[in-house]
Amino acid sequence: MSHPIIEFSKTPSEHHVQELFEQAKAVQARAYAPYSHFLVGAAILTPSGNIYVGCNVENAAYPVGNCAEASAIAAMIAGGEKEIFALVTICDSADIGTCCGGCRQRVREFAKSETAIYACGPDGVRAIFTMEQLLPTSFGPDNLVGFVS
Ligand code: THU
Repeated sequence: MSHPIIEFSKTPSEHHVQELFEQAKAVQARAYAPYSHFLVGAAILTPSGNIYVGCNVENAAYPVGNCAEASAIAAMIAGGEKEIFALVTICDSADIGTCCGGCRQRVREFAKSETAIYACGPDGVRAIFTMEQLLPTSFGPDNLVGFVS
């Protein structure tokens, strides 16, 4: 049995945020974005203390491309975990670059309303949001209870 080392009700420590930022920045450099040239990195911290990273992966058939958040979620699921405690994204846009609408829903599947989402630029955190702020009154797994057997 696994014993979570982080309580979901707590916000991540400065140390964790710094580590997430560094890992997101490192994976951002590996993004495959030859069409948009917009490199994105994402790092997920789970309650067990593990970190999963992902970058955007574009495709010549544009709609088939993958966002960084989707890649990080895929890594988390492949790693056998299903809870996002905190998420850091990084991009090089001039202003705050937050998760796209589709990724807000993807993250919401594995997050709580109070889950912290950090939008970073090259020099660090630019803004902090909760899941509820990024996707208010959202639809999620709980809405399907009783409908899916
Ligand atoms: N992108 C992400 O990876 N995450 C987001 O939340 C916003 C957009 C990527 C998709 C595409 O490869 C590039 O950024 C430009 O839209």
